[in-house]
Amino acid sequence: MNTIILNGSPKGNSINSNSRIFAEEFIRNMKNPCEIRCIANADTKELARYAAGFDAIIIILPLYIHAMPGIVMKFIENMEPAATEDKYIGFIIQAGFMETAQERFVEAYFADLAKQLNYNYLGTVSKGEAAGIYMYPKMFKKVFRLLNDLGSAYEETNAFDKNIVKELGKPYELSKSILVILSIVNKIGLSNVGWHRELKKNNTFDKRLDKPFL
Ligand SMILES: Cc1cc2nc3c(=O)[nH]c(=O)nc-3n(C[C@H](O)[C@H](O)[C@H](O)COP(=O)(O)O)c2cc1C
Repeated sequence: MNTIILNGSPKGNSINSNSRIFAEEFIRNMKNPCEIRCIANADTKELARYAAGFDAIIIILPLYIHAMPGIVMKFIENMEPAATEDKYIGFIIQAGFMETAQERFVEAYFADLAKQLNYNYLGTVSKGEAAGIYMYPKMFKKVFRLLNDLGSAYEETNAFDKNIVKELGKPYELSKSILVILSIVNKIGLSNVGWHRELKKNNTFDKRLDKPFL
């Protein structure tokens, strides 16, 4: 199926964009890799018209403040309903928080959107805990392997493999025991180590408790 991949991160093609990395890993093992285009800095009207010429559109996007980036919304608003019954759309969400339960509201919207646009819905893949990928790629070899497999299975079957989607979607919700461990890590300040290092690097550590709007 002739498929276009759209990177929905506002960072576009930047080396810091995790959506870019997801897109590249998704097509890595394909025999005929899909074209990847960025929504950022594109004329969304023109891009929507161009994407409509493909059999399938897969949008890879991050979550910012629990929501899709505004540029993705703008792209969607420029899409026209399909005139035929043979168009497909799917989504791959990658985001920082661990629990993919957070993605369920956006997922419900995407499922409904596909219906409104007369597109067949390929589904939505969700991966949490993805913020550090561009910084520590070596720690995400398993995620890359799953994305490579997801892409090659998609090329063969025109569908997202259910088992891979399930694996990427873990954890849906954190277990009680993990929550207890995380609250201890939080209490003793271990979760602050990375943030504090960044604040010190930027000479803002002393201002971290400022409340300028009070
Ligand atoms: C301002 C801001 C808000 C964010 N909000 C969320 C959020 O609500 N939920 C979440 O899971 N991750 C959140 N993240 C993390 C991003 O989803 C994550 O870093 C993602 O990998 C960024 O993708 P990109 O590099 O392709 O833009 C946020 C990051 C930033 C900088």
